Amino acid sequence: MKKHPQHLRHDLDLDIGTIRRIFRTAGEMKKKTYREAATKALRNKSLAMIFAKPSTRTRVSFEVGMTQLGGHALYLGPTDLQLSRGETIADTARVLSRYVDGIMARVFSQDDIEALAQNAAVPVINGLSDTYHPCQALTDIYTILEKRGTLKNLTICFIGDGDNNVANSLLLLSARLGIRMIVAAPKEYTTSKQILALARNIARGTGASLRLTTDPNEAVKQADVIYTDVWVSMGKSNAEARKKAFSPYQVNGKLLARAPSHALLMHCLPAHRGEEITDEAIDGPRSIVFDQAENRLHVQKAILLELLHTH
Ligand code: CP
Ligand code: NVA
Repeated sequence: MKKHPQHLRHDLDLDIGTIRRIFRTAGEMKKKTYREAATKALRNKSLAMIFAKPSTRTRVSFEVGMTQLGGHALYLGPTDLQLSRGETIADTARVLSRYVDGIMARVFSQDDIEALAQNAAVPVINGLSDTYHPCQALTDIYTILEKRGTLKNLTICFIGDGDNNVANSLLLLSARLGIRMIVAAPKEYTTSKQILALARNIARGTGASLRLTTDPNEAVKQADVIYTDVWVSMGKSNAEARKKAFSPYQVNGKLLARAPSHALLMHCLPAHRGEEITDEAIDGPRSIVFDQAENRLHVQKAILLELLHTH
């Protein structure tokens, strides 16, 4: 067992070489048939999956991914662990480390991911916190690379809640990979000062750029990729105020008509059809949302191989 396991707590944990290797491995995984993909690389390895929030994609893709790699995943829902009766995160991490080879967790506070990582002797993977969703961002950039063949001269335009986990992770990973990003969001729901400072600092060394605007119509004009996410993320309470503030930021046919004809449309899903995105947009020719969802499986298998294989 390594003394310091490689974690994926957020988008700054993996070095660029590792990220590129994950993209390559994901591509190789994807080319294989199911039977070919079912390797034994993680034979006898177990992944504990702690879920404090619901999930379709993350839960199923990690569980199936572990099975395809010859290992095993345990779903641990909100009431399954003694965490629900007050056992600490630290003790949970120490105990799980005696049984499993990796811990994937979906939590509310990012502090819980940090506490798991501080106390676990095995790799900890963030499967979404209120602040970050690194597995999603890696998949998103991989999907763009797959569709465009390159990340050069790429502008991603994020429309809607600029202050959520998906936007934050996409912003930081884009900054690291030299990608230009425009966030179009209402002033009160735009990128936080901390994330903005972090991204701008990284961008200085990579040639990336980041612009905040409140005007979605102007923002999409320069987009190669238009990205949106729900207006009310899991755990947010002020749903009515949010829906009101975000209504001019709906991704619909009218907004897409202002974008370049080659621009692709992405959404991490689940979508709230009729709110942040219309049926016309998500089911239209620009949409790559289901390829994006599929790629969670391939990219996360590559992440698991990277973190658990060598561990
Ligand atoms: N995109 C994503 O993480 O989906 P789930 O909430 O279904 O896992
Ligand atoms: N921002 C969304 C992403 C869901 C995958 C949420 O946190 O609910």
